[in-house]
Amino acid sequence: MGYIDSHAHLCCKDFENEFDQLFDKFKESNIERVMIVCCDKSDLLKALKHQGTNDKFDIAYGFHPSDINKINDNDIDELEQYLSNNKIVALGEIGLDYYWDKENIDKQKEYFIKQIKLANKLDLPMIIHSRDAALDTYDILKEYDKNGKGIIHCYSSSYQMAQMFIKLGYLISLAGPVTFKNALVPKDVAKNIDLKNLLIETDSPYLTPHPNRGKRNDSSNVVYIAQMIAELKEIDVLEVMEQTTKNYYDLFNTKK
Ligand code: NI
Repeated sequence: MGYIDSHAHLCCKDFENEFDQLFDKFKESNIERVMIVCCDKSDLLKALKHQGTNDKFDIAYGFHPSDINKINDNDIDELEQYLSNNKIVALGEIGLDYYWDKENIDKQKEYFIKQIKLANKLDLPMIIHSRDAALDTYDILKEYDKNGKGIIHCYSSSYQMAQMFIKLGYLISLAGPVTFKNALVPKDVAKNIDLKNLLIETDSPYLTPHPNRGKRNDSSNVVYIAQMIAELKEIDVLEVMEQTTKNYYDLFNTKK
């Protein structure tokens, strides 16, 4: 058994033409599987192309809140076609981001809800992006999500809030910030949350964890997230690996 990176943008432009080398590197780092999150059609087509020769990753596709100004209802129809006709195991990342965009909150909510309805219809887990918008994200999921399965990715809110998302059926995924010295809130979440509700992720190429900050991030760094969680919980890192990997397969059912 190995580690699973539950969120990485390996088909984005930062990783142009490196796909096979990356997976060679991941093998050496005991990375068993990666969820490749595609935020646009070019990412998606690249990921689908690699599905023929590499079975070490899963695909998620959806419209990120920061791209919502470019999206209309035709894109949602096309999203449905792609999700229905390909091996795509999650709808995401979708959600709300009030950190980067405060001017289009209504449109963000509108397209978040449209994509949740699509996930309900297709019975797909969702990968949720929520930044400075935890309560609105919670309220919308509570009202519209009928499936109650998915991930709150790169979780950055409080432990109390995490418990609320868990009650809705969600897993909490921790990323690089948990390794940062002054990130007290993610550390508190890591320490107190039950391991059976946790996933680990890199969100590569962003958010490189300590001790590699300043370098480009990739999925091999997910080990540092697991190590920090183990340290905070005072347990063996292998326990973190085994349980987070099990949590991932329980949700997505993609174990070979
Ligand atoms: Ni992401």
